[in-house]
Amino acid sequence: MIVYYTGTGNSRRAAQLLADRLQDGIFDVFPCLKENRPLSLRSERPWIFVAPTYGWQLPHVFRDLILNGDLQGSRDAYFVMTCGAGVGNAEKYLRQLCDKKGLTFKGLQPLVMPENYIAMFPVPDERAGRVIVKKADKRLERAVPLMAQNLQLPAVKSNPAGKAMSSLVNRVFTRGVVTAKPFRTTDRCMGCGKCVQMCPRNNITLENGRPKWSAECIHCMACISHCPTEAIEYGKKSVGKPRWQCPEWEETK
Ligand SMILES: Cc1cc2nc3c(=O)[nH]c(=O)nc-3n(C[C@H](O)[C@H](O)[C@H](O)COP(=O)(O)O)c2cc1C
Repeated sequence: MIVYYTGTGNSRRAAQLLADRLQDGIFDVFPCLKENRPLSLRSERPWIFVAPTYGWQLPHVFRDLILNGDLQGSRDAYFVMTCGAGVGNAEKYLRQLCDKKGLTFKGLQPLVMPENYIAMFPVPDERAGRVIVKKADKRLERAVPLMAQNLQLPAVKSNPAGKAMSSLVNRVFTRGVVTAKPFRTTDRCMGCGKCVQMCPRNNITLENGRPKWSAECIHCMACISHCPTEAIEYGKKSVGKPRWQCPEWEETK
């Protein structure tokens, strides 16, 4: 079974491609996160966990869902981490997660996809993003036969910089960088509540028709990227940048 978490659709697309090619089931963890309920799933075929890279690791909320979830059936686990540039030394932490959970680590497929971290970095426009997406599809297709035969994926090598990114920098990032404080709305906000709906943490409420962010933000960028009127900004950092939403696999295959 393919189990995925997504902020802006890249990981959903990768999960959909895998479900299509492997003719396997697919599960979006969004309701579990939103309603704060544990994963409870059964799969006779290997688990394939698909998620974005946050601070050169698996998003901690997704890691914790796996760790605390009830996963029946297969003990084999693959991981696909979509990323804007690289996954650092994420493999080490995935191995630790598998050890703790009694899963057999079958490998990590890093997958460069469009950068979605509009609060920090430049984000591609739709045209440039689609070119990156098509390349990523091809890359992922190459991993499909290995997964279909339950073979080990090649190890992902990491250099000293990658090791530092996934350890020290990840801690600094999680504790010091991830904050909702700079989120604000402009007068384009219609109070439609799409941001409230899209937030996997239930961290946004409408107050007097305007969104208000609380302290549970994980910086997934779903609110800012899905706002239909582009009325959300992150301080000044997002101003003038395109908003990225990945097309679904079925739309473009
Ligand atoms: C909070 C946050 C942290 C990120 N950290 C990394 C990172 O460490 N390395 C990287 O290459 N990309 C990083 N990215 C980019 C995303 O991993 C990438 O765009 C991913 O494909 C988004 O997937 P999604 O559309 O499923 O949310 C980060 C994005 C966000 C929002």
